[in-house]
Parts: sequence; structure tokens; C-alpha cells
Amino acid sequence: MNARPDKMMSGAVTLIGCGFVADLYMRSLMTFPGIKVQGAFDTDPDRLSAFCNHWQITPFTTLSDALAATPPDGVVLNLTNPVSHADVTRAALDAGRHVWSEKPLAMSMDDVLALSALARDKGLQLASAPCSVLGQTAQTLAHAIRNDTAGTPRLIYAELDDGFISQAPVKDWASESGAPWPWEDEFRTGCTLEHAGYYLSWLIAMFGTVRSVTAASARVIPDKCGYDGATPDFSTAILFFENGPVARLTCSIAAPHDHRIRVVGDDGVLEVAKAWDNTAPVRFRRRLRIRRRLLEHPLGRKVAPVAPRHPTVKRTGAASMNFALGPAEMLAAIAAERPSRLGGDYAIHLNEVTLAIQNAGETGGAMQMQSGCDPMEPMEW
Ligand SMILES: NC(=O)c1ccc[n+]([C@@H]2O[C@H](COP(=O)([O-])OP(=O)(O)OC[C@H]3O[C@@H](n4cnc5c(N)ncnc54)[C@H](O)[C@@H]3O)[C@@H](O)[C@H]2O)c1
Repeated sequence: MNARPDKMMSGAVTLIGCGFVADLYMRSLMTFPGIKVQGAFDTDPDRLSAFCNHWQITPFTTLSDALAATPPDGVVLNLTNPVSHADVTRAALDAGRHVWSEKPLAMSMDDVLALSALARDKGLQLASAPCSVLGQTAQTLAHAIRNDTAGTPRLIYAELDDGFISQAPVKDWASESGAPWPWEDEFRTGCTLEHAGYYLSWLIAMFGTVRSVTAASARVIPDKCGYDGATPDFSTAILFFENGPVARLTCSIAAPHDHRIRVVGDDGVLEVAKAWDNTAPVRFRRRLRIRRRLLEHPLGRKVAPVAPRHPTVKRTGAASMNFALGPAEMLAAIAAERPSRLGGDYAIHLNEVTLAIQNAGETGGAMQMQSGCDPMEPMEW
């Protein structure tokens, strides 16, 4: 068995943006004791001091101070609101620093392509969340698919429905250091830009290029806690892979909570129930013909997880994801002088497909993708 990555990984990171997700990153980074947090910066001085006091880390008073304090072989974590992603990432790349960005990499393909070109020209790493594809559950599912556990995959259903979120007590939700959940920004950005990547990243890693997308998106709840903008709160997309099965991906903040992915193959169904749990079991339900009936095994069997395991955070819900897997993998890539698995063509393609679904509207219809990438090599952890 290889050494566990949390024991091997080293390097330094600086956090830009000290809001809700930054606390989840700090909790996750603590599972990698070799990674040093240089400090943090936020344009909101009250948030900056509450966050840095809570975690006992250095507050930087300007972005340029924070960038200058990041070693050239370290990584800047862009954890700002989506509308700020492009500007902060550009500033960090201009300062010669590698960047891990929260999702989306940028709000437009023009920005995604320009930033990716800037990173490439400067020999810097640039990748965006989510990183759950590096986790044990996604890697176990990918391994089972490569091994034909369910036979040839024919069709995939992936659901990222979060329930009728605007009726949840969203104004009471707060992070560990006291950042309120940014409900208005979440509704303005939209659940597709926020969440489609959680399964799109797995599907693109497993099957590579999505040749075309047929999608529609809509706003189905006009008033969400007083937010009445036009951003879609529902989308559904059919993804046609260059080399692989067809997949249906659904995102909403209206339909009852359902985070399943089901891979339908010639011999049965591979299934994961929890997209956001790095160690959720992968189950295989063999297809059975019993007399004149056809059914998938009601219980199924647990697929043996790929080993060795990466560090996990002991939480539930979104917080049971280890948000540091992406930055840790990027630090390993910098040290090994190889591209990060989540950067380059993979990052561009993930963002192109996500934006196409979000912007499909009522008449989006069939869209040919301009970018593409190879499937991802299996992880070694
Ligand atoms: N909230 C979640 O549960 C969650 C989960 C996973 C990923 N994310 C992602 O994390 C990112 C941040 O979300 P959040 O929930 O932490 O939002 P947030 O509003 O709680 O925090 C963002 C912080 O960034 C700061 N900021 C904005 N522009 C800045 C700039 N130019 N320079 C420095 N600081 C700046 C804000 O002052 C704020 O404190 C988003 O991309 C979101 O998609 C959020």
C-alpha cells in the first residue's frame, strides 16, 4: 500500500475570501498537517479579523500583501464570491502564483479561456473546484466502471436536487467562524453553476469529452426569500459523450433532496446515494431475471473501495467533503513538475459544459461543445 497522501503532502496556501466556504477549507486543510496556511485576505475587514482570530492565522490587509506572502511553489486559494473569481485569479496569476479557484473558474467562457491561456503562458497551475472526483467514492465508481462491474455503461442518471431551499431557515445558517450562508449570492449565481460540477466533474473524468449538450434551464420559484432575479433554479441536460454513454444531469433547488448517481450497464446498476460524502458507498445491483420478472437486486453489494484512503473530515452534508483534496493535489503536481489533474483542458471543458447548461433557458436546445479533454488517470491515493 502507498503512503497516505496526508503524510506526504507539503507546501503553503493563502486564502483569499474568508466567508462560509473558507471555514470548510480550514477544517479540511487541518487533515493535511504538512500544508501550511500563510494567512488570509478579505475585502471585508470585519470578516477578515473574525476568521483570522478564529483560526489563529495571519490577516493580510491587501491582496498584494497576501500574494507576495505566498511562496512561488505555494497555491493561492480563491474562495471569493463567483463574480470576483476572474479578477482575483487574474491578479494572482499576474503576481506569478498558482491558483486553485472555487467554482466556477469564471462566469464567462471568455474569462475561462483568457485565464487558462495566461496560466499556461506563465507556466502556472490553474484549476477549479469541485475536487470530490479525487475522493474515494468517485475513484471507486470510476474503477468499477473501468472494470466492467456492471457491464458496458449505457445510460447515467445524475441528480443534484437540494430540496425547496428557499423555505429552509437559510438566514440562520452560519459557518464555524460566524459567516452567514450567502443565500442571496447563491440564488443569484444559481444552483447549476454552484452544483452541476459535483457530478459533471466525475462524468468528464470517467468518459472525457462531452461532444454535445441538449439542455434547458428555468426559474421555477419566482420569489426566494425576497430574491426575485431571473437566474435558473432548475436545469436538466442530456450529455452526449464522444466515447461513452449518454448521461442525464439534473440540478434544482426545488425538487426533493436527491443526490444519487446511477450508472446503468448491460449487467446491472452502479449507484452512489451521496454526492457530497467522500466515503459514500458505491453499490452494485445486478440485474436478475426471475421467472417472468426482470429486476435489479434490491439490496445490491458494496463495491470494495479503492485503497489507500485519503484523509476525511468527520462531518455530515456538504461539510463531509474534504475541500483540501484539490489544493493538495495541486501542491503535489507543482512539486512533481507535472500538470494538476483538475487544470488545463479538463478545467476548461468542465466550465464550458456547466455554463452551457446554466444558460440554456427555454430555447438552448442542442449545443456543440468547443473544448474537450481525455478521461482522467486513476488516482494513486
Ligand atoms: N457556501 C457553501 O456552502 C459553498 C460550498 C462549496 C463551495 N462554495 C463556493 O465558495 C465560493 C465562496 O462562497 P461562500 O459561500 O464562502 O461565500 P461568502 O459570501 O460567504 O464568502 C465570500 C467572501 O469573499 C469575500 N470577497 C469577495 N470579493 C473579494 C475580493 N475581490 N477579494 C477578497 N475577498 C473578497 C467576501 O467579502 C466574503 O467574505 C463560491 O464560489 C461558492 O460557489 C460555497
